[in-house]
Amino acid sequence: MSTGELDLDKQAFLAEYWQRKPLLIRNTAESFASPLPADELAGLALEDDVESRIIAYRDGSWRLQHGPFGAGDFQRDEPWTLLVQAVDHYIPAVAELRRLVDFLPGWRVDDVMVSYAVDGGSVGPHYDNYDVFLLQGEGQRRWRLGQLCDSRSPLLPHDELRILRDFECTREYLLGPGDILYIPPGIAHWGIAEGECTTFSIGFRAPRINDMVSRWADDLLEKLDPELFFRDPDCEVASRAGEIRPQDLERVRAQLRAAVDRDTGSHWFGAMITEPRYEFDADEDELAEARALLATGAGLLQLSPAARVAWQQEPAGIAVFANGQSSLFSDAVLDTLVSLCAQWHLQGEQLSAALAQPDTAQLLDYLLETGGIYVE
Ligand code: SIN
Ligand code: CO
Repeated sequence: MSTGELDLDKQAFLAEYWQRKPLLIRNTAESFASPLPADELAGLALEDDVESRIIAYRDGSWRLQHGPFGAGDFQRDEPWTLLVQAVDHYIPAVAELRRLVDFLPGWRVDDVMVSYAVDGGSVGPHYDNYDVFLLQGEGQRRWRLGQLCDSRSPLLPHDELRILRDFECTREYLLGPGDILYIPPGIAHWGIAEGECTTFSIGFRAPRINDMVSRWADDLLEKLDPELFFRDPDCEVASRAGEIRPQDLERVRAQLRAAVDRDTGSHWFGAMITEPRYEFDADEDELAEARALLATGAGLLQLSPAARVAWQQEPAGIAVFANGQSSLFSDAVLDTLVSLCAQWHLQGEQLSAALAQPDTAQLLDYLLETGGIYVE
């Protein structure tokens, strides 16, 4: 398997499996090379600004330790797993794995987490609230799939780990290098390493409905005229003192619906869904340098691996979201934007043409400022 294409009928997958059922996709290619050796993963886990953890099972209980780690942390007697978050931000070959799922909207993808486990290592039976594609790197891992879970499913007592108290195994697969297991949200799963192994988890982002309502309401409140009041010109005679009647509540709902319908151009969602995992701090000197390099048109412009970029077409133009920011551009930017989101880079004639077009040049400047792209 090359990391470019999944051996999968995408339409059938979306219709039958996505968000519904797990699917095992066996590696059909003759050769498969894991994009990251275990020792390099361990090296990342030594760094301060990399999010890592070790989960171990000892004396009948699950233990969690947060990184950064020292080399001594990797010398242990019990079965253990090292997990490193957002490895796609640091290792281009791991970022390439995101292309496996590029038939799904890019803004749905969160990060690629990589795990290394010794023989018997596991993070325990659990469920996630998001979809995940688990790609086996080196070695083998036995995955057991279980029941459908939700927030009422009993967990073992632990401050941070969410390990299921009960696990009802329904299926079991042994994954080897290049095999992929897709697991939808809520399905219990339990992977146990058979010998040393690495697993790459392409995890998706699913905002909580609660958080969406809160962001949407904040946005709406900013737009609504505070001088609008509840009205009931068709009010009926009050026959039972004190009663709020169904028709009163229906008026309330109708007036709320009318307020909601005034909400045009919902930029809150794009801004929310592109919020970066780790905050991006613009460095003024670097920005000036990048602008100067970009102005020559000679450089290579790359989509930052950690950047979250999305867009939506509106009557007024193209709203572009980058790392939680939003800005509106004319339709002239569309081709460049789509190329950048598809290829992850611009160079040569394509870059010169983009820079020569004032709106597109402005888009590139905005993407530089928000950390969506960098030039080299
Ligand atoms: C692992 O890689 O061990 C855990 C991944 C997961 O269960 O989501
Ligand atoms: Co999981």
